Amino acid sequence: MRWEDLIFERLVSGPFPSTCAPRKLFLYSNYKLNLSGIESIFFLMHSSCMLVDGKQYRTIWTPAHKKWVNVIDQRFLPFRFVIEKIRTVSRMAAAIREMHVRGAPLIGAAAAYGIYLAAREAAQKSRGEDFLERSFSLLAAARPTAVNLKWALDMQRAALGKTGDMAADMKTKCRMALETAELIADQDEKRCREIGLVGLPLLRETASRRSGRPVQILTHCNAGALGCVDHGTATAPLYEAARQGIPMHVWVDETRPRSQGRLTAWEMAAQGIDHTVITDNSGGLLMQRGQVDLVIVGADRVAANGDTANKIGTYLKALAAYDNRVPFYVALPTPTFDRTLTDGGQIPIEERDPDEVLYSEGLEKRRLRRVRLFGPGSPAANHAFDITPARLVTGFITEKGIFTPGELAKALA
Ligand code: MRU
Repeated sequence: MRWEDLIFERLVSGPFPSTCAPRKLFLYSNYKLNLSGIESIFFLMHSSCMLVDGKQYRTIWTPAHKKWVNVIDQRFLPFRFVIEKIRTVSRMAAAIREMHVRGAPLIGAAAAYGIYLAAREAAQKSRGEDFLERSFSLLAAARPTAVNLKWALDMQRAALGKTGDMAADMKTKCRMALETAELIADQDEKRCREIGLVGLPLLRETASRRSGRPVQILTHCNAGALGCVDHGTATAPLYEAARQGIPMHVWVDETRPRSQGRLTAWEMAAQGIDHTVITDNSGGLLMQRGQVDLVIVGADRVAANGDTANKIGTYLKALAAYDNRVPFYVALPTPTFDRTLTDGGQIPIEERDPDEVLYSEGLEKRRLRRVRLFGPGSPAANHAFDITPARLVTGFITEKGIFTPGELAKALA
C-alpha cells in the first residue's frame, strides 16, 4: 500500500462520526474517482459539504442499506431542515416536478437515483423491462429545461445497456443503476469543487483592484450547493474565496416566484459570507451606482453558441451588466452544456403553475402560511426560465477553465 493511501485510509476511518455516511461516501468517491491519496487529503482539508447542526450533508444520498434515497426537501428551507425518504421512482419524479429538489445538476443526480429506485422496484415486484422503460419516460418528462436530466438518464441507459439488455437480470441492473447514480453524484461534487478553484482567481484579481474593500458579487436564483450535490456552481468560487479570506459581499436576488434567493441566503449565512437580499428589480440600480463588481449566475442549459437558459430574470441582469460594463459570468459543469442545440431559441422553456405567481409562502408565528397576493380576477403567467444571449456573457466558468462564448464548444468537446 502506498504511504498516501495509508494516510487516506486512516483519515476516512478516523475523524468522522459513523453517522456521517454522506461524508464517508464523498471521501470514498474521491478515491474511486482516481484522485491520489494526496489529492483526496487536499479535498478532505478544504471540502465544504453543507454543515447543518454540526453534521455535513450532500443534497442527495442513500443510507447504508440502500432501501431508499434521502434528499433535503428544499420546499421547507430556510425555515425547516427536512430530509425526505424517497422509495419509488414515481415519488422521485414528483420530487423533481414539485421542486423538493431543484437546480440543474441536482435534477440530473435525482433522475439517476430515480432509475435506481425503478430497477429496485422492478427487481422486488418482478416487473419487467417495460416498467423500466416507463420510468425513463416519467423522469424525462419531470422538468424540461435543465439538460442535466436527459444527460443523467442517458448515462443510466448506457450503463444498463451494458448489462446485456434483456438477458441481464433485474438485480444486476439494480446494482448497475445504483453505481451509476452514485458516480454521477460523486462527479458532480468533484466538478463543482473544481469550478470553485477555476473561478477563484477572478475574485482574487477583483479583490486586488479594490484594495481591501469587499468584492461585490450579484447572483440570481440559487446556484449553490442546494442546486447541486454540493458546493454549487455560481457559489463554488465564492466558497473558495471565503476560505482564502478574500473580503466579499453578495447581493442575493429574491428570485420570484419560488424565492430561490432564500436558499442562497441560507447558504451564505451558513458559510458566514456577508450578504444582502434584494428584490429582483434592484440589480440595475446597484450596477449604475458601481455597487456590483461582477455577476455570477448558474445555468440550466447552455447551447453550442453559448446562449444560456437560466432562471427567469437572468437575461435582465445580463442586459444591465452589459450596459454598465459589469462582467457577467455563467458557472456550469460540462453536463449542462448541450452541444446538440445550435442556439438558445431551441431550448425548451418550462411554464409552471400560475398559482406560484398568485400565491406566496412564508413563516408566521412559527407556522408556514400560504397567502394569495392578487385579486381573483387576474390571471398569471409563470415562465420559469429565460435565455441570455451569448453576446452578453463575459465568460463561462467550468471545471475545465474559463471560456468565452466563442471558445466554449471547442473547450468542452
Ligand atoms: O427552477 P429551479 O430552482 O430548478 O432553477 C434553478 C436555476 O435556474 C439555477 O440557477 C440553475 O439550475 C443553476 S445550477 C445550480
